[in-house]
Amino acid sequence: MPIRYLDEQRLFLLETDRTAYVIYLAEHGQLLHLYWGEKLVFPADYPGPPLNHAHSAFNTWGNDMAAEFPVPYNVQEIETCLRLRFADGTRDLRLKYSEHIIDGDNLAITLKDEFYGFTLRLVYRVYPECDILTRRAEIINSGQEIIRLDEVLSGSVPLPYDRGDFRLSHLSGTHVTEFQLDREPVKPGRKVLEGRQNYTGHAHNPFFALDLVDSQGGATETGGEVWFGGLQWSGNWKIVVEQTRSPLKRTRVAAGINDWDFEWQLWPGQTFETPWMTLGYTSAGFGQVTRNLHRYQLAHILPQDKAADLRPVLYNSWEAVLFNVNETTQMALAEKAARCGVELFVVDDGWFGAREHDRAGLGDWTVNPQRFPRGLQPLIDHVNRLGMQFGLWVEPEMVNPDSDLYRAHPDWAYHYPNRVPTEARNQLILNLGRLDVQEYLFGVLDGILSKYNIDYIKWDYNRAISEAGGAQIPAGNQREHWVRHYQGLYRLVDRLRERHPQVIFENCSGGGGRVDMGMLSHFDQSWTSDNTDPLDRLAIQQGYSLVYPVKTMFCWVTDMNQNAAPYSLRYRFLSSFMGGLGIGSNLNHFSDGQIQEAAYWVAEYKRLRPVIQHGELYRLLPLNAETEQQDSFAVGYVAPDKSQAVVIALDRRSHHWRNPRRLRLPGLDPAAHYRLAGDVADREPQVLSGQAIQARGILPKLEGELAAALITLTRES
Ligand code: GLA
Repeated sequence: MPIRYLDEQRLFLLETDRTAYVIYLAEHGQLLHLYWGEKLVFPADYPGPPLNHAHSAFNTWGNDMAAEFPVPYNVQEIETCLRLRFADGTRDLRLKYSEHIIDGDNLAITLKDEFYGFTLRLVYRVYPECDILTRRAEIINSGQEIIRLDEVLSGSVPLPYDRGDFRLSHLSGTHVTEFQLDREPVKPGRKVLEGRQNYTGHAHNPFFALDLVDSQGGATETGGEVWFGGLQWSGNWKIVVEQTRSPLKRTRVAAGINDWDFEWQLWPGQTFETPWMTLGYTSAGFGQVTRNLHRYQLAHILPQDKAADLRPVLYNSWEAVLFNVNETTQMALAEKAARCGVELFVVDDGWFGAREHDRAGLGDWTVNPQRFPRGLQPLIDHVNRLGMQFGLWVEPEMVNPDSDLYRAHPDWAYHYPNRVPTEARNQLILNLGRLDVQEYLFGVLDGILSKYNIDYIKWDYNRAISEAGGAQIPAGNQREHWVRHYQGLYRLVDRLRERHPQVIFENCSGGGGRVDMGMLSHFDQSWTSDNTDPLDRLAIQQGYSLVYPVKTMFCWVTDMNQNAAPYSLRYRFLSSFMGGLGIGSNLNHFSDGQIQEAAYWVAEYKRLRPVIQHGELYRLLPLNAETEQQDSFAVGYVAPDKSQAVVIALDRRSHHWRNPRRLRLPGLDPAAHYRLAGDVADREPQVLSGQAIQARGILPKLEGELAAALITLTRES
């Protein structure tokens, strides 16, 4: 049983295959966190209740540092999960355990305030085979008067304090340099990672990993203890990693909806549910962090109707022709794309309204009559006849002021009545918290999807917010937008999915600006970055796939930077093999030979796609601060049944001399023999045992400038 309550010891024991999370129900009815780490065989071996270190009037926190859900009580030194105001102005809580329910892999513990009508339900779920646990809070107004919530985090967890120091790994970036891996020591004080612009953000991603740094150093790809997690939320969010000073050094991590500019009015009888916080622990290093997160998201986060489907190879002409889409040019590109073996042809921005540039038309989701005088049907028929599916770009949450939609409903965009709204990319954001906006968008999108044979939607979101006010919403509720926008968005997408189950939904936000487990629970895949330089992409893709599943990470072969760095097609394709594959090159400029070569690589990708998209990912030569000077980058994918593996190695520098590195791929069956094919260095054996591949490694053949190698391994016995 993954969840148990041990009456005598007053312990809630939440166990996965390899990890445990233990909560202690103290005599006074408070919940204290006892343990999060490796699963122990005997429950009696988990540590006992913590000592209260409240030894001075200035250092009263003692037990609160172990609080399972810190709330303002007698101290406020650490990040609390909840801040509120009762109608009479009281701003603290005295919560006491009331009851709990264990239902299979779910646990709900209810606490009540000792005076006010206030109920807190802490909900936990364990995913034993993924070694992942999730938690969230439900805030219930069980009284008679309104309660104002100023902060509601999903959870906060202490890390072991008696083991050593921690190092924080997180992902940061900008538009076109998303998902860069940052590592830094955790020091006394507070480190806040956050998004507060009404989208996840390019700057930070809701993910943390805290590895233990002991005398041997920190965790590596293959070993070391790591506590990690994330948030299933796409609106304003924050993750706080904090540490108190020695000698009572304590480290905690909290995560949830950002309290910046947040307020929620909770009326009697209402419940506020926080997003889920994801938590995981492994003693097997960062590689295992990735594999556990991938397994969890494939089985429990991604929309399950398509989670197991292989993602089709797509063509998208955005980088090739930008807004210049019309029936003739798209038909010509479709023919070339079909010759390359593409399975899904996507028309990007520019097909609707007056959208011939980015200054007009957003919001008017009707086909542009100059560009497609016969509507989209002839193009779709053509694409379908060529054996491809058809997809379309939309940006439903946005509006250009120069659009019929804005002229009809200026109030639908976020704004303050007495301020001129600030445009970014000449557009404003629609208030998706409004039911009429949701209804309108559902109507137009449902209309398009019903009228045409569409198999894919690329759903974009291309600016950060300003003037986050809304018309016709009382002043006291204005700060609820941040949450209501995403409740509205998720609901809208879910309704469309239900009505049009064949459609693959791709999430995009100026590249990878809105990638998180919230989006991935409603969208099937993401656009990773508008930077498609195959070399820059290595770090971006590594960061994305550190957390999010490979099959959701879309990678296109394009012509970007071709004049500055003449990447071969082989290089461009192999860089893009590391996720879902797309082509974004201007195929009209491709010679027959290049089309044939592209067709070869697409066929190779399709052959290897089950292993890449569904295999377990191993970073063989990862990129990080310590390996900045490293010549090459390599990843491996091992099929779940270990019958096959794929290794991709790419040079990172344009040079003739390099230090060859053997690639040691774990994860294979040690006793089986594997045949190596593809770009293996000369004089290397063609058949090796799984054990040898892990222990001595294989040497790729990397020859010439910016060389790229693809090796496949197939089990023989
Ligand atoms: C964003 C996307 C691009 C493209 C453009 C269209 O920048 O990331 O892929 O769709 O919008 O305007």
